Amino acid sequence: MTLRLRTLLIGLLSVLLAGFVAGALLIYMGFYDISALRQHTKPVFHLLDFAMSRAVEVRADARPPADLHDEGRVHGGLALFRRHCLRCHGAPGVSPDALAFGLTPAPANLLHAGRSWPPDEIFWIVRNGVKMTGMPGWAYRLTDEEIWNLVAFVKAMPGLTTRAYAELAAGLPQADASPSPLVSAQPAQPARAMRPGDAHAGRQATQNHLCATCHLIPGIVGANQHVGPPLGGIAGRAFIAGVLPNTPENMVRFLRDPQAIDPLSAMPDLGLDEQDARDIAAFLATLDQVQGK
Ligand code: HEC
Ligand code: HEC
Repeated sequence: MTLRLRTLLIGLLSVLLAGFVAGALLIYMGFYDISALRQHTKPVFHLLDFAMSRAVEVRADARPPADLHDEGRVHGGLALFRRHCLRCHGAPGVSPDALAFGLTPAPANLLHAGRSWPPDEIFWIVRNGVKMTGMPGWAYRLTDEEIWNLVAFVKAMPGLTTRAYAELAAGLPQADASPSPLVSAQPAQPARAMRPGDAHAGRQATQNHLCATCHLIPGIVGANQHVGPPLGGIAGRAFIAGVLPNTPENMVRFLRDPQAIDPLSAMPDLGLDEQDARDIAAFLATLDQVQGK
C-alpha cells in the first residue's frame, strides 16, 4: 500500500516536472505569439476572460450611491466619458479612435457591460483598470464621485439610440464638432493596389476592425457580443441592415459607411479602406450557417 502510494506520488511529481520543463522550454523558444494583431488562441482567450470576470466579481464591493440613475450623474458621466473613454470604447454610432484598433484585447463595446454588469463591478474596473490590457485604472485621475458618474452613464448607454446620444453630446458645453475622432485621426493613406476580396484576409481583418466587439461571428475567437445582429448566416440574407439588397458591392458600401445607408445606424463608420472592406465582404459571404457561438 505505502509502496503503491509512493509510486503514485513519484509518478505525479514526474508528470508535473515534465509539464513544467515543457512549459519553460516553449516560453524560452518564444513559441507563444504575442503580436497584438492576432487574437489569443481560443483556450487562452477563454481562460483570461474567465479569470478577469472572476477577479472583478470577487473584489467589487463598493456600494452604489442611491441617486445613481439621476440625470445629473448621467450627464456628468457623459462629459467625462467623451474626454477619457470614447477614444477606446466608442459610443452609440461613434467609432473608437485609431489607437483602439491595435489593442488586444480589443476595448469592449460598453453596451454589453451597461446591460449586464452590476454597477459595483463597473466601478471597480474603471477605478482599478485591468493589467496587461489597455484599460487604465483611473483612481488617481478621477474622484470616486466622478467614477460613479461614469458608471451612471455606462448603465444608461444601452437605452440610448444613436440620435439620442448625439443630441445629449451636442448639449454639452465644449462639445467638439467632429462626431468621430477617427475621422480626424486617420492620416491620408496612399491608395493600395486593389485586388478582389479575399476571405482569408477578411477573416483576419475582422479582428483588426473591432467587429468582434459588437457581433457574434462564427469561427472568430471572442466574437460573442450582441451589440449588433449575429453575422452567422449573413451570406444567405436578402438584405443588409434590413434595407440594402445583399450584393458584394453593397456590402462593401455598407461596411465603409453604414450611416450613408441608414443615418441612424448604430454601426459606426470604422474607417475601413476599400480593400479591407472587400476582403471582409468576401469573408462574410462564406458565413452561410446560422449558428450560436
Ligand atoms: C487606452 C484605451 C482605453 C481607455 C482610454 C479606456 N479603456 Fe476601458 N478598457 C480598455 C480595454 C483594452 C479593456 C479590456 C477589454 C476587455 O476585457 O473587454 C477595457 C475594459 C473596460 C471595461 C470592462 C468591459 C468589458 O466588457 O470587459 C469597462 C467597464 C471600461 N473599460 C470602462 C472604461 C471607462 C469608463 C473609461 C474612461 C474612464 C475607459 N474604459 C477608458 C481600454 C480602454
Ligand atoms: C460598435 C458596434 C459595432 C461594430 C464595431 C461593428 N458593428 Fe456591424 N453592426 C452594428 C449594429 C448596431 C448593427 C445594426 C445596424 C443597422 O441595422 O443599421 C450592425 C450591422 C452590421 C451588418 C448588417 C447585419 C444584418 O443583419 O443586416 C453587418 C454585415 C455588419 N454589421 C458587419 C460588421 C463588420 C464586418 C464589422 C467590422 C468591420 C462590424 N460590423 C463592426 C454594430 C457594430
